[in-house]
Amino acid sequence: MAPATRRNAIQVILSEHRRLTSVVNGMLRVTNRMASNADSSGAMLMRAMLYYIHEFPEQIHHPKEERHLFARLRERTDELAATIEELGHQHEAGERRIQALERALTRFELEGGSALPALRAEVTAYADFYAKHQQLEETVILPGAQRYLTVADWVEIDQAFGANRDPFESLETEDDLDDLYALIVQTMPDVRS
Ligand SMILES: [Fe+2]
Ligand SMILES: [Fe+2]
Repeated sequence: MAPATRRNAIQVILSEHRRLTSVVNGMLRVTNRMASNADSSGAMLMRAMLYYIHEFPEQIHHPKEERHLFARLRERTDELAATIEELGHQHEAGERRIQALERALTRFELEGGSALPALRAEVTAYADFYAKHQQLEETVILPGAQRYLTVADWVEIDQAFGANRDPFESLETEDDLDDLYALIVQTMPDVRS
């Protein structure tokens, strides 16, 4: 029935948001420790985190939102058009911010401590930017989707987000990213999420 399907797709989106939040919080903790910890482990962990953000939210989560959730919502109502446009811009800006973060990390690796304040500023700005992005999706888009989308829309969105994933379907990329996420979480300092 539709209500169960809706809950499934939304649960997947929320859990993908939680994962990115925990990686972003991990980046904040790693940069906070870099001042006192001179070895290169923090920079290596941060590279893995940036790779994860680049490969999962940027390449999979955000395009799925745009292609399925936002596209169907646009067809059903004009009410959310401005928010959807803003979120689309934020998806593009997110990619640019991740590239800026990568550059700041490279500078830190080459120059050391003098480049740390700039790296920290980039990480803090990204964390703030991403928290607002996620909040807008969760407080405006997901409730709007529950209000306006049809059962057929939910079937498509459910499939796109793998809420009813066929266990025999090949999803190697996402599985590899699951493994990477697990590794990142294990390696993060003082992680509780
Ligand atoms: Fe998004
Ligand atoms: Fe999202």
